[in-house]
Amino acid sequence: MGVGQFDGKQGNEVVLRVKNRHLRYRLTTLMSLGAFLSLVSCMRGGTDISSGEAYAVQHGCFGCHGVGGVNENPNFPNLAGQKKAYIVNQLFVFKQGTMSNPKIARIAARYNGMMAAKASQLTDQEILSLADYFSTRTCSFGPKRARPAQVPRQTVICEDCHGEDGISLAPNIPNLAGQKQAYLVAQLNAFRRSSTGTNTNGASRHNIFMTRQAAKLGDKEIDELSRFYAQLDCRGDVQTNPLDQ
Ligand code: HEC
Ligand code: HEC
Repeated sequence: MGVGQFDGKQGNEVVLRVKNRHLRYRLTTLMSLGAFLSLVSCMRGGTDISSGEAYAVQHGCFGCHGVGGVNENPNFPNLAGQKKAYIVNQLFVFKQGTMSNPKIARIAARYNGMMAAKASQLTDQEILSLADYFSTRTCSFGPKRARPAQVPRQTVICEDCHGEDGISLAPNIPNLAGQKQAYLVAQLNAFRRSSTGTNTNGASRHNIFMTRQAAKLGDKEIDELSRFYAQLDCRGDVQTNPLDQ
């Protein structure tokens, strides 16, 4: 099967099996390009950051996510410096609200009451501007954090997509570095529940990559991995990412 000719499902299989890192990055990126072609073409219009900030004020994003996308609530994710395409995708998926659209549900599906309500008010243009704004904010002005001495064993799997330093390797894969521990635990649990078909309690998340990854994790591993990624510096430290936006 050539690199250019796979459908989403086969592409997923290949991404998980391919040993060569660079090829794997390319495949992951191709997957995202194929899957989000409509979003990408939508993005060509260009946006500006000041309108993103104005929309964030207008829609009350700062009330939960903090001014500039950094906040103190353990359950509310920081958005500052997160990948733009990932933010766009999540807002579209939240806007979808439920898994009623099979096209979207097949690739990624996520439900959260607070965000479904918010995202349903956003136009496509507002989503793009908000993503521009939050993805270009600085996530920390403090001194660089030291990398934790204890590195959980499973990170060898995670780092293929989320990067060795928790800064992801493709535009639609989120950075994990410096994200809230409780939030990361909640997301991994939601992905894991979706693998057992019990993800119907009003806060759910399904993704072809992550549902499969989380299914292999026990509570202790979820706890260790979340603690590790939360401790990493949100600005990254290990590598320059060739695919960074
Ligand atoms: C009432 C609180 C609240 C408000 C207001 C709010 N959010 Fe959220 N947001 C949340 C919570 C809680 C989550 C985590 C949802 C989950 O657990 O799935 C979240 C998740 C997100 C995510 C996904 C982040 C990730 O790492 O996956 C994005 C993007 C986001 N919000 C953007 C926004 C934007 C843009 C606005 C304003 C239009 C906004 N939010 C307003 C509470 C809020
Ligand atoms: C094959 C690529 C791949 C691998 C391997 C992978 N992930 Fe992911 N991860 C993703 C993608 C893609 C998403 C975004 C899912 C979505 O759109 O809902 C994601 C999302 C996440 C999120 C949600 C972050 C947020 O901001 O909401 C967490 C937490 C996470 N991954 C942790 C892990 C951990 C821990 C591992 C290792 C056990 C891992 N991932 C392995 C691709 C991967």
